[in-house]
Amino acid sequence: MSMVIAIREASPGGDYSPAKEKASNRGVYGGRSPLLHRRLRLFVGGAKYKLMLFLSLLISLYLLSSKISPFMGWNPHYPSSVSSPSRGGYTVLINTWKTNTLLKQSVAHYASCHGTDGIRIVWSEIDPPSNKLRANLKKVAERAHKENIRFDLNDEVNLNNRFKPIEDLKTDAIFSVDDNVIVPCRTLDFAFSVWQTAPLTMVGFVPRMHWLNEETNGVVHYRYGGWWSVWWMGTYSMVLSKAAFFHKKYLELYTNKMPSSIHNYVSKARNCEDIAMSLLVANATGAPPIWVKGKLYDIGSSGISTLKGQSDRRNKCLNDFVSLYGTMPLVSTNVKAVDATHEWFW
Ligand SMILES: *[C@@H]1O[C@H](CO)[C@@H](O)[C@H](O)[C@H]1NC(C)=O
Repeated sequence: MSMVIAIREASPGGDYSPAKEKASNRGVYGGRSPLLHRRLRLFVGGAKYKLMLFLSLLISLYLLSSKISPFMGWNPHYPSSVSSPSRGGYTVLINTWKTNTLLKQSVAHYASCHGTDGIRIVWSEIDPPSNKLRANLKKVAERAHKENIRFDLNDEVNLNNRFKPIEDLKTDAIFSVDDNVIVPCRTLDFAFSVWQTAPLTMVGFVPRMHWLNEETNGVVHYRYGGWWSVWWMGTYSMVLSKAAFFHKKYLELYTNKMPSSIHNYVSKARNCEDIAMSLLVANATGAPPIWVKGKLYDIGSSGISTLKGQSDRRNKCLNDFVSLYGTMPLVSTNVKAVDATHEWFW
């Protein structure tokens, strides 16, 4: 009898019924002493309470984060360059080769980005783009209200084509990208705002490194460091032009001022135009590039650069270019640019 009274006291809701009591006794706590039962119930109640407290804390933090800034008077004075990249904007320079499906997809994507002022497609084939492809891209352009989409035709495959100066460019910023690489618009516009703070620097998403390999007879030998080594060490000295911003003046420098031995090397090797561009910018600025945090999407394999023995070729290019320069112009760094509005905990 005393047991019943005790339980009655413990449930302030007053929803006691002998049937319920029996059922719960037969259940999890069946056979245990009444005192233990009571303690457990209290404990479970406490844990639930704590969980609810924690959840409501999270929700109020979330609400606060969206409400507190106007309340505190933290209103941006005018839109930041991230939210209004129309101040200047950029031209997307797409390098394509025999992959029309990818090209259509990537043009449609980049046309939809707010900061895109125009799109130039570097076409390097004997046959010009088909009327069907042109019509398709024209439709895409009209839908996105971006009339400034054009082909730059070259009748030979030469990787130097991708860095030919572009006539009547409206923007200083070039976003150079392979036809199989998609960068989400938000990420792209953020990287553009990073570039605006350092317009002579290359700003991109694919970092690479030159590692010191060995020194024989006073000649320094370097090893081209791919993604794994950069990820492990957090150090890089190049960002690849498969997804990078740079100033349009580097197109002019690459094509008209860079030693022709490097042009010849690139067109013969059918590779390493991106390394050549990285060296060129590093030599001109004496500074490292900037790596921006962001996820890229690979929508298929690009026609050009998926060759066997890639890492040997890259090592060779790097060392051959460095010996052409006579010095190592690349500068390494550990800086990585992230969008602070998405970094909650410092
Ligand atoms: C490197 O930069 C220097 C100084 O700006 C310039 O004189 C030189 O021609 C550049 N080297 C190459 C190989 O472009």
